[in-house]
Amino acid sequence: MEFSSSSVLFPFLLFLFMLFRIACWFTSSSLTEGLGREIWASHAPTAWPSLHASPQIAKEVMKTHDLNFAQRPHLLVTRIVTYDSTDIAFAPYGDYWRQLRKICVIELLSAKRVRSFQLIRKEEVSNLIRFIDSCSRFPIDLREKISSFTFAVISKAALGKEFKEQDSLESVLEEGTKLASGLMEHRERMEKRTGELEAEEDFIDVLLKLQQDGDLELPLTDDNIKAVILDIFSGGGACNSIDSCGVGNVGNDEKPKRDVDETGIDELKFLKAVVSETLRLHPPFPLLLPRECREKCKINGYEVPVKTRMTINAWAIGRDPDYWTEAERFYPERFLDSSVDYKGADFGFIPFDAGRRMCPGILFAIPSIELPLAHLLFHFDWELPNGMRHEDLDMTEVHGLSAKRKHSLHLIPIPYNS
Ligand code: HEM
Repeated sequence: MEFSSSSVLFPFLLFLFMLFRIACWFTSSSLTEGLGREIWASHAPTAWPSLHASPQIAKEVMKTHDLNFAQRPHLLVTRIVTYDSTDIAFAPYGDYWRQLRKICVIELLSAKRVRSFQLIRKEEVSNLIRFIDSCSRFPIDLREKISSFTFAVISKAALGKEFKEQDSLESVLEEGTKLASGLMEHRERMEKRTGELEAEEDFIDVLLKLQQDGDLELPLTDDNIKAVILDIFSGGGACNSIDSCGVGNVGNDEKPKRDVDETGIDELKFLKAVVSETLRLHPPFPLLLPRECREKCKINGYEVPVKTRMTINAWAIGRDPDYWTEAERFYPERFLDSSVDYKGADFGFIPFDAGRRMCPGILFAIPSIELPLAHLLFHFDWELPNGMRHEDLDMTEVHGLSAKRKHSLHLIPIPYNS
């Protein structure tokens, strides 16, 4: 089995996928300034709007009618990019998706598995801090450094192998593909590991084991494995944007006072609030993936025809002035002593989606965001170059596979121990 895209096709397909996300964003951007709800009111019930920016509608779609909206629409572009929609995010609702989702939740992204990657995160944070220390007092592109960190963590967890930042996603996937298609190196490694700790397993090991054991209701093909790995890398990419924003927004009083490991992070309430506030104002996926109505139903008193497409605008919902006070202000304190969180129960704050199609990667994502952020703040004071002030920072975002800052974030690290 060959990876169909060795040098040209894959980037092209990825580009198509990005175009799809961008097109969704473009369609929505003129609607995000609070218009989503009015469009609903003015069009229903004759023509159904496909974009929604109200927490109330999000709740109807993701909770009341979640099962009915657990379907993804058939989209040519995603079928091409995701091995005929056999990944998790785009797989149609049904037995295959349920099986993959179960594998994800129980095997790949469980609390136990995520803990088993603790050493990887620790090692990569040390590398990050060491690198930044070596260029202290000079402006560095923090976004790029954080992106390399995330990439390294994901590639080690997924493929058991470190990839350098110059390696493209394409080469990673090619490597993953070789591994998935039975590359001797990977299988031999698995055999040698018999009796060793589960902690040593990467995602490919787990998936190959499930494939070989043959206990699955639906067999897992090599292409299915590749599609899952593709999802994991896209998910990991979403973590990148959070830390650079966090570093620029934590004042001296709120910085961690001691070196922390993952177990100590829960005590850093302000840091956690900064992560939440960043996810509220800058959700990496501003538009959630579209869902499709499987059977006609009623929402807000209006009949929703079968196959109606719904796209929820998480970005606009996070800034809804009816839901948030001073919605546009970056104010992490709002999350201190608040029970509102991103785990899918608060429909005014849904950066990870909610309901059955909610992100299964939260347990993996959060320590990969919080741990580097805590260390970046503990070890360094951060200054803006050329006498810039915080207000001068351009927070404009661009939207591709996920949202990220348009301009790189150059900051000067000043080590505390110097
Ligand atoms: C800050 C980081 C992350 C954010 C904000 C995020 C957000 C999301 C969202 C919103 C969805 C639903 C699809 C959509 O509406 O676009 C999703 C799905 C998914 N995410 Fe994440 N994600 C993150 C990190 C991760 C990580 C690290 C992984 C894996 C290691 C991951 C794996 C997945 C998978 C497999 C799905 C498909 C779930 C399904 O359709 O059943 N995500 N994610």
